Amino acid sequence: MATTEILSERHRKLKKEFSCGKVALDNYLKNQAGQDVKRMLSACYVSLDPETGLIQGYYTLSNNSIPLQWIPESFKNRLPSSYGSLPATLLGRLAVDGRFRGRGIGKMLLIDALNRSYGLSRVIGSFAVAVDPMDEEAEGFYAKFGFIMLPDSRKMFLPMATIEKLFNGN
Ligand SMILES: CC(C)(COP(=O)(O)OP(=O)(O)OC[C@H]1O[C@@H](n2cnc3c(N)ncnc32)[C@H](O)[C@@H]1OP(=O)(O)O)[C@@H](O)C(=O)NCCC(=O)NCCS
Repeated sequence: MATTEILSERHRKLKKEFSCGKVALDNYLKNQAGQDVKRMLSACYVSLDPETGLIQGYYTLSNNSIPLQWIPESFKNRLPSSYGSLPATLLGRLAVDGRFRGRGIGKMLLIDALNRSYGLSRVIGSFAVAVDPMDEEAEGFYAKFGFIMLPDSRKMFLPMATIEKLFNGN
């Protein structure tokens, strides 16, 4: 499992060096993530390279919901139709610095985020982990790990029941 830690003041200088090649994701970490963590709008986790101390990558988690009408019929089995929307966990952003790309860090971060989300879903209900892929590259990454496109939105989701099997083998 990746060793991730919550973004804090001690990463202030390191944030400035982060570069994943997508300006919006770089700027988010540099300028916004700390504020969002302080205001409890989202949690941001970073993993540090043991050799250089640089930020290898980061991801964010927050509460979210998915309108029931977006969920494909095959996943609606036994869900109460009176529920207008389902609680979900939003993996809002995930990015790996270009210097650490292609070494399994993205996969490690994703597994760490799914494991954390699954643990939290046992405390506060969450039907799925949702992502908002910003482009085709991101879509390809999440699709590789089983995320399913919600046809009426730009979101993708992975049911928590699938994630549970991944970690518990149930
Ligand atoms: C997408 C991203 C997170 C991948 O990080 P990474 O550390 O290079 O990926 P990994 O080395 O962990 O790759 C894990 C697996 O995913 C595959 N993969 C990586 N990027 C992929 C993509 N865009 N599409 C499909 N598969 C991809 C790898 O080939 C690897 O496959 P393998 O396990 O069969 O060998 C990284 O390229 C990135 O930060 N991109 C810019 C930001 C971005 O698009 N974020 C996504 C959501 S906001």
